[in-house]
Amino acid sequence: PPGLATHARAKGRYFGAAVKSRQLREDAGFTQAVAQECNILVQEYELKRGTTEPKPGQYDFSGADQIIDFAQKHDMRARGHALVWYAAQPKWLEPALQAASDRGRRKLMTSYITTAMPRYAGRIQEWDVVNEALEPNDGRADGMRADSMWMQALGEHYIDIAFHTARETDPRATLFLTDYGIEHDSPRCERRRTAMLKLLDRLKARDVPIDAIGIQGHLKPYKEEFNERRFADFLDQLRGYGLKLEITEFDIADIGGPPNPAKRDSEVASVGRAFIDVALDNPAMQAVLCWGLSDRYSWLSNYKDYKWPDGQLSRGLPLDGSLRRKPLWDAIAAAF
Ligand code: XIL
Repeated sequence: PPGLATHARAKGRYFGAAVKSRQLREDAGFTQAVAQECNILVQEYELKRGTTEPKPGQYDFSGADQIIDFAQKHDMRARGHALVWYAAQPKWLEPALQAASDRGRRKLMTSYITTAMPRYAGRIQEWDVVNEALEPNDGRADGMRADSMWMQALGEHYIDIAFHTARETDPRATLFLTDYGIEHDSPRCERRRTAMLKLLDRLKARDVPIDAIGIQGHLKPYKEEFNERRFADFLDQLRGYGLKLEITEFDIADIGGPPNPAKRDSEVASVGRAFIDVALDNPAMQAVLCWGLSDRYSWLSNYKDYKWPDGQLSRGLPLDGSLRRKPLWDAIAAAF
């Protein structure tokens, strides 16, 4: 039976997932499912700098290479995640930044962009240039993430420099700003949506070459409410900047839901359907990627706020732990 990629392609769109190279090396059944369901792929961690540049200037792209080779072999698009982020950075970086001159600090950021992008030119079509620039809760009045080493080293202009460098390095790539915590109907998300729009006003005024916004889409329906109209309005506002849109890390935390897994699956599917319906309703929305494809490998099963205390798998992805299609799979297929 046709996979989600087939449903997406019929609408001129993409469906995909984050994967680890080890899954592709060691799990044939899972790999087969990826080939069937996806027409776009992203690395779950293997292009994060903490993995690729363990020592300054010493790179290891072996994991990412395997994922990109797989994508190419299966005619899939590929995303690169992520060039500039506050997290998952090598240990040597922060002290190096603190010791550097202004020029040195810029170089410490741009060197990763000018190394990773050319390596995959023409094979990675879209890059998360800056991931998670916004303040998580309360903090800076302007809504910019205060604990980002880049914000501290270079000020908000780090975003300008990153996008200009990325554009020059691979002019064909689609350049993304990605963030989370803008999906729900809560005061926190409301604040972060406003901060995102204000940031875009400033970036546009400064002619920063940004092409698209990635909404991560980590839903947690049992902790924060989702409201279709408010989310639709926000996506429209983003589109108003002339930006393309993607859902880049979709999954649903089922912690706090009913104990019966079948009941939970159906609730998860209905919230997922509402979310993806709104997303795909927007003409600028190009792709939906899940953060993992099967519950077998969901990061949610191990993440502090989302995991079940009894160790059972989180059930927030389209395929269950045995690679069977869940109601969420049907919901996504129907939404396309
Ligand atoms: C997560 C990975 O899934 C985990 O395996 C890792 O331990 C931490 O990072 N937002 C992002 C992703 O942009 O890179 C994160 O991925 C999930 C939240």
